[in-house]
Amino acid sequence: MKKDLIIVLDFGSQYSNLIAKRIRDIGVYTLLYSYNLLSIKDILSKKPKGIILSGGPFSVYKKNSPKISKEILEINIPLLGICYGMQLISFLLGGVIHQSNIKEYGKALLKIKCKKNPLFSGIPKDRHTTVWMSHFDEIKKIPNEFDVIGSTSSCTFAAIAHKKKDIYAVQFHPEVNNTEYGNSILKNFIDKICKCDRNWKLNNIIQIIISDIKNKVSNNKVILGFSGGLDSFVTAFLIHKAIGKRLHCIFVDTGLFFVKEKNTIFSFFHKMNISIKEINAENKFLSKLNGISNPEIKRKIIGKEFINLFEEESKKIKNVKFLAQGTIYSDVIESSNNSNEKLSNSIKSHHNVGGLPKYMKLKIIEPLKMLFKDEVRKIGKLLKIPNDILYQYPFPGPGYSIRIIGKINKKKINILKKAENILLQELINYNYYNFISQAFIILLPIKSVGVMGDKRSYQYTAVLRSVNTEDFMTATFSNLSYDFLEKISSRIINEVDGINRMLYDISSKPPSTIEWE
Ligand code: XMP
Repeated sequence: MKKDLIIVLDFGSQYSNLIAKRIRDIGVYTLLYSYNLLSIKDILSKKPKGIILSGGPFSVYKKNSPKISKEILEINIPLLGICYGMQLISFLLGGVIHQSNIKEYGKALLKIKCKKNPLFSGIPKDRHTTVWMSHFDEIKKIPNEFDVIGSTSSCTFAAIAHKKKDIYAVQFHPEVNNTEYGNSILKNFIDKICKCDRNWKLNNIIQIIISDIKNKVSNNKVILGFSGGLDSFVTAFLIHKAIGKRLHCIFVDTGLFFVKEKNTIFSFFHKMNISIKEINAENKFLSKLNGISNPEIKRKIIGKEFINLFEEESKKIKNVKFLAQGTIYSDVIESSNNSNEKLSNSIKSHHNVGGLPKYMKLKIIEPLKMLFKDEVRKIGKLLKIPNDILYQYPFPGPGYSIRIIGKINKKKINILKKAENILLQELINYNYYNFISQAFIILLPIKSVGVMGDKRSYQYTAVLRSVNTEDFMTATFSNLSYDFLEKISSRIINEVDGINRMLYDISSKPPSTIEWE
């Protein structure tokens, strides 16, 4: 099946993923690459119908700021520059950019300055519309080949268009909700300028994924590392649709997970005729992690142990050639310097993509590798996966090992499990569960003095982390009531032996991440 492609080149903006997501939501396949990953030849070989240059926190005149070859302006593929992307286009063509230390952030009012331009088709010209700005530097003189097509009171060159070519650029961010006609601008770019067909539809994607799996696996068998989370559920269902009984799911109990209603999941699999086997490997994992406090080393150890177990299991079944994993696009992006899709910065190696040893004999299949979380959820819905699975909070592969900061042991795991259980009960009691994207407890290696029943206590400090996010790439801490915080704190401190102090994490992502390690 033909799928039109838009490439987003990432110059480090916190909104780069959002651009890709917005365009996929409109219905066009979009891939995000670090600005320096693809040569012009690579870009041409992918035959994109359009290219977007993202924003980024840099100044084009700085020596090491990210740049791209000027050739990008000569390959006759429609181009849209956003924020830093706009400044870069101007810089490459001889425009003048004013360097500033003062940030213009937030709402601005755009006045469209052209009667007819495809980028602003259908957007009111007789009044100002709201746009969202987030920049330091600003263009002072545009290249001669460009016209101004929109201004705000503080930014003369808020939108520009090439006089002859399909090159457009905006200083504001059309991808954020606060830009009133942002989605219309992106739709105009992909429909009217790039002339894309909107053929990225989830029903089509399911068919593409299933036929890809059939082709790849042929008559062989697949084992799947099943974690109980949504991604591995959807992966199992898709592979099962493609190859039926030749899929063998393996659930490894590492002792580091909190699997809600394991029996319900297992009986559901049995009902669907999907083969699933449980391996108890708690002692193995705990002994390997003994004494380790570095988070990346923990992740690598866990990844390696998983692979060893899967390789062992694969030998017990004839013709197993593939190991399937529920890796999704955000895992790929965030672990990027461990994969081929190298983006500018690696944050942490999510275990499924970060820890694969080179000696591994099984070939990897990752059917969800190109999908964002909300796309996986929508596919899950189409596959009729039950709601409590669809909306359960994500749980990282390395589990409690990265939520116990520092060294891990069984005692700490039990403390954390008890605290987590209380959190889940109260999220449901307070009707918060469905309004929060992810919530969990972190156990710090810090002890402090408390007093309980007139007695001195000296116990661990725990942190409540609760975030709201659309795609887990950016997140804000949840706005929880004091009443709820008080309840969590008093229940955990009173009921969990080992914790005598609770904190609430009020950091957003970025600059923090969701998990602590
Ligand atoms: P961070 O901490 O990177 O987390 O902001 C983003 C989302 O990914 C989950 N996460 C992981 N998932 N393997 C996974 O499958 C991992 O190693 C891993 N680390 C983080 C995290 O819980 C959040 O939902």
